[in-house]
Amino acid sequence: MSESVGRRYLFTTVARRARALLVLPLAPLLLSAVHPAIAATTTTRPKGKDMNIDDASGNLDPYRLPRHVVPHRYDLRLEPDLRAATFSGLAVIAVTVTHATSTIILNAVDLTISSATLEGTAGGRLDATVELDAAMQRCRLTFSRSLAVGEAQLTLVFQGTLNDHLRGFYRSTYKDQAGVSHTMAATQFEATDARRAFPCWDEPDFKAVFATTLVIDPSLTAVSNASVLSDSVLSGKRIMRFADSMKMSTYLVAFIVGQLEATKALYVGSTPLRLWTVPGKQPLTRFGHEIAAASLTFFEEYYGIPYPGDKLDLLAIPDFASGAMENLGAITFRETALLVDEHTGTHAERERVADVVAHENAHMWFGDLVTMSWWNGLWLNEAFATFMEMLAVDAWKPEWKRWDAFGVSRAAAFSVDGLLSTRPIEYPVRAPKDADAMFDVLTYEKGASVLRMLEQHIGPAVFREGVRHYLRAHAYGNADTNDLWVALGQASKQAVPELMNGWIFQSGYPLVTVRQDNETELVLSQQRFTYLASPESTEQSWQIPVPLRITAGGTTEHRRLLLADREVRVSLPKGVQHLFVNEAGHGFYRVRYESSLLQRILEAGVDRLAPSERFNLVSDVWATTVSGLTPLSDYLRLTSHFTGERDKNVWAVLLDAFSFLNRIIAAADRPVLEAFVRARLLPAVTELTWQPKPGEDDLVRQLRGELIGVLGKLGNDPAIQAQAAEQYRLYRADPSRVDPNVVPALVAILAYTGDEVRYNEFFERSRTAATPQEERRYLFALAAFQAPALLARTLARTVSGEMRTQDAPFVVSAVMGNVYGREQAWEFVKTNWDLMDRLFPKQGLRRMCGGIVALATAELEQDVRAFFLSRKIDLGGKTLDQYLEQLRIAVTFRERERDRLPIYLQSQQPGA
Ligand code: BES
Ligand code: ZN
Repeated sequence: MSESVGRRYLFTTVARRARALLVLPLAPLLLSAVHPAIAATTTTRPKGKDMNIDDASGNLDPYRLPRHVVPHRYDLRLEPDLRAATFSGLAVIAVTVTHATSTIILNAVDLTISSATLEGTAGGRLDATVELDAAMQRCRLTFSRSLAVGEAQLTLVFQGTLNDHLRGFYRSTYKDQAGVSHTMAATQFEATDARRAFPCWDEPDFKAVFATTLVIDPSLTAVSNASVLSDSVLSGKRIMRFADSMKMSTYLVAFIVGQLEATKALYVGSTPLRLWTVPGKQPLTRFGHEIAAASLTFFEEYYGIPYPGDKLDLLAIPDFASGAMENLGAITFRETALLVDEHTGTHAERERVADVVAHENAHMWFGDLVTMSWWNGLWLNEAFATFMEMLAVDAWKPEWKRWDAFGVSRAAAFSVDGLLSTRPIEYPVRAPKDADAMFDVLTYEKGASVLRMLEQHIGPAVFREGVRHYLRAHAYGNADTNDLWVALGQASKQAVPELMNGWIFQSGYPLVTVRQDNETELVLSQQRFTYLASPESTEQSWQIPVPLRITAGGTTEHRRLLLADREVRVSLPKGVQHLFVNEAGHGFYRVRYESSLLQRILEAGVDRLAPSERFNLVSDVWATTVSGLTPLSDYLRLTSHFTGERDKNVWAVLLDAFSFLNRIIAAADRPVLEAFVRARLLPAVTELTWQPKPGEDDLVRQLRGELIGVLGKLGNDPAIQAQAAEQYRLYRADPSRVDPNVVPALVAILAYTGDEVRYNEFFERSRTAATPQEERRYLFALAAFQAPALLARTLARTVSGEMRTQDAPFVVSAVMGNVYGREQAWEFVKTNWDLMDRLFPKQGLRRMCGGIVALATAELEQDVRAFFLSRKIDLGGKTLDQYLEQLRIAVTFRERERDRLPIYLQSQQPGA
């Protein structure tokens, strides 16, 4: 090992020069690039007073590192042994000692550190004693003398295992087309797992330059954050040296090793852009490559800053815990999020790839170039990336109407943020577990929603100007929410913190109630919306941008209000016919009309409303139905206005409510619900038929697939089921005979009605599928059967090693969502909890637990609570409380409506 240190230094000057060239075009813009000290001191922590130095005093944050020794450059050398599933490493870290000390504390976990030496300050070479604190994931280096203030170089030699938990430096396996198994290795460091691969200052505001060298088997290749500087074979080992990265956080470091294949580079300006796959999957790269290039181009223009890396590789990893990860220059993906067959993929599958690729590319600036100071500010990364993803995909394919589909995301945020156990978007974070729990719908979807609201309020051009200011001011550094407000405030000349702090630092969101007081006065009032009655009265309020559309005397006017008080009165023109609040639907609030106002909207015809407005109308009335403000019968009657609906998002919100009813209805009454679902869906399905019309757009094709699927399952329609079987036969004989968007519905229906023969067939297909999407489709179909014995086999397979752990927890959760399997799935979870806890990635386990919200009977709820309580299970942050509250809401609804529901449903039948 030690002889390689010398060799690495031979290249140091070359590396610096290469980096300097890369920085050059940015330098005039980004002064901090040439002043490495700036970013290191950009932190929320006051200087001097709180260096978090002496962790014996008791009043310091045990989860934060002391800051008296600060790294600025890591030279990393890693040598993975894929067969033995181990790695050895060498880290040479250039540090600045700012306060004399005899200890250095940094992060490390599940590593063995065999030597630690320091050279530099006060001359000579000092060996340290190394103590690892597994619980705190730290390592303490103690030196026999005090280290003087100044520059020093810390050399650490360490060993670790390539784990199977999809975090840190981990191993991923796959079978080639001949069925032979292969192993590769990849990294996933966010939030706090870089410390599992090399000892480091693993906090986002310890930014540094990383120069990586990988020593690998010559039959393999490696990819890291920067371009390849040299590539040679020495003593039977391939040595790949990568250029210096830009100054960045540890969680963005990545290295991937395996038998990988790459596309040819597409150039975006001077940036080569490539997609990497395991052998044989290159035919699935075209679509992802296209959106990658389009979104990179879009962002360079939007941000007004060139892409900050020296190349960009996008890699599909067979085992991957989340959807994708924004490692600078080496973005990693699960296969379904990057690879898709353009001919057999559905619209939803292609949209998913476009979204994820655009999202990760957006992070190259938001997140990578400018990073939140600490995990409480995660929304600055994720909300922005989610928002920018929409902008980029919308610009790329306007016909996809991406912002309309965003309603589904906003609704997902509404449903968690309507809980008493919700949290503000920005929320205190101490332990790593709580950092992990920040990756939720509030950070992503609520965050992106309030950004969209703000963008529409101050205007897209002004908003973009503010974003550009912010990125320029904090490039290569860290920032906090207030830094963003300052930049947006400068651009908009408006009081942004006053407007926005309520949305970011307060829990929940408002319900705006609308009533007409007399002929000429409208009253808008706000109160917090929650599904369950709040034990304490909340006096919360928000500054709410309210665009208002009023039609009176045949003319329509548009007004924009800011509802800042609890109530506001608006004068109306004479002869109001109808009016609509939250015009265009960008606001993060719900609206409740008094019944005469709602009646007038419906009488004027819902087709007068924009799709996003129809979406919000249905979503808001449903939410107030669940909370008990609107009678269930009113909601069911409202749905009758939507049989002519042809927007897939509006349908999604309707279908979601129908499946909620399916979870709370008594088994004996289910046929009445099935008949209701058929009555609502049949007109649309009959008109759409099974075959797309010539020239039909993607969105209608997708809608067809979704409606057929629900009609065949929830609607339990025998004719549809028979036709599905026939269509599936056609599809098997010749895939081009059936529109790809209908295929998922066929598979789902045949599983729903399927026997053991079908089960075995689908299981087999999941193993031999030609695309990641097809594999996923057949895998999840195994959760959709009805026969308990078949579902038992599916559950058993989630822990038997037959299923990837990236998928297994989601399959368990899908069985919990199947009303014919939920009890069994819950029993299975209880029995196998310890095993699952050991096998599944943390994130997957957390998401699996989300499945409990479907266990909507009083008995199951009790059992669920008792289990989590007695086992003292903590899913991080407020995650578990939120799941339990969602379950409480469903059970409350069930208890309240159970007896009336079948009667109401019956009365909605045609001819009733
Ligand atoms: N930074 C995240 C990846 C991540 C997620 C790391 C959770 C650690 C924990 C990445 O940018 C991301 O947001 N990925 C999403 C997909 C995206 C399109 C919403 C994901 O993985 O679900
Ligand atoms: Zn992200």
